[in-house]
Amino acid sequence: MTPAGEILAAEVRRGGPVPFRRFMEVALYHPEHGYYRRPRERFGREGDFFTAEQIQPVFGLLVATHVRRLWAQMGRPADFTVVELGAGRGEMAEAFSGWRYVPVEIGSNGLPEAVCGVVFANEFFDALPVDVAVFSQGAFREQRVTLEGDRWIWTPGGAASAQVDDYLRRYFPPPEEGRWYEANLDALRWMERVGHALREGWMLTIDYGLTRPEAVRFPRGTLMSYQRHTAREDVLERPGERDLTAHVNFTALSEHGASLGLRTERLETLAQTLLAAGEEDQFAAVLTSGGAGQEARRRLQLKTLLFGMGETFRVLWQRRES
Ligand SMILES: C[S@@+](CC[C@H](N)C(=O)[O-])C[C@H]1O[C@@H](n2cnc3c(N)ncnc32)[C@H](O)[C@@H]1O
Repeated sequence: MTPAGEILAAEVRRGGPVPFRRFMEVALYHPEHGYYRRPRERFGREGDFFTAEQIQPVFGLLVATHVRRLWAQMGRPADFTVVELGAGRGEMAEAFSGWRYVPVEIGSNGLPEAVCGVVFANEFFDALPVDVAVFSQGAFREQRVTLEGDRWIWTPGGAASAQVDDYLRRYFPPPEEGRWYEANLDALRWMERVGHALREGWMLTIDYGLTRPEAVRFPRGTLMSYQRHTAREDVLERPGERDLTAHVNFTALSEHGASLGLRTERLETLAQTLLAAGEEDQFAAVLTSGGAGQEARRRLQLKTLLFGMGETFRVLWQRRES
């Protein structure tokens, strides 16, 4: 069993099956054994994501082009700040170095109190622990996790909490018997923090996700685990050694944001966002600013971004209403 699994097993022995949300929290964020907290190479050849080498600096340069446009539109304020939620290893730090940059990570600083600028979140919301529920006999029932021998399995829990019930009724189509759902209550809390902090400016969220009508395509929910670039559906295997994600519910971010004064301006594919950043000069500046020796590599990065990620990731643009 994995070390994160041992910790969860002790909890199951003490108190019975654990909510999936707890399973995901320990698997990803246990201070010593969580996937995101363990000192090991998650990126690079043996890593589980698109690596920095595959997409940087082109991704950073194109996002910075948009941020520069927003800064100009806002009248170039001197206190313009870029806050990045879940900044990871700080791969965007260079792209945002022209402004005050505040990376927010577990165990580091929280959001500044008053922000004029951009709050940026790339693959942040899909990594937050979620509650899982199944709709059965007219009610949402929590799904828990327990051990059978040394194998992790799903087991039905009691009625979903009132908050989970409310989330699922609000942001999904009317529930149907037997379907699985995820509720990302932490995403709502983060939107509230951003809603309080952002006095003027934009929130840009880049992620995998769905909108309310699209949720019908996922009768078993959207949980995924990733190892070495391969998506796996058994999310309970080897906790702590694999990344776990749930599709972001863009309807939840958009509607909850609106209730906090963050108006959705658009939701588009990442390819659309990146094309809009490069259209003025056909990407010439991005491709050539590293010198002739870099151009071939950068072309490959652009291709990976537009065709590898561009159609699966989406960008939600929300603006603080003034
Ligand atoms: C999938 S990674 C994305 C990292 C980076 N944005 C990127 O695109 O490479 C999600 C990041 O969110 C961070 N994160 C998760 N929960 C968080 C929290 N409660 N506060 C701050 N950061 C958090 C994780 O530590 C992790 O670095």
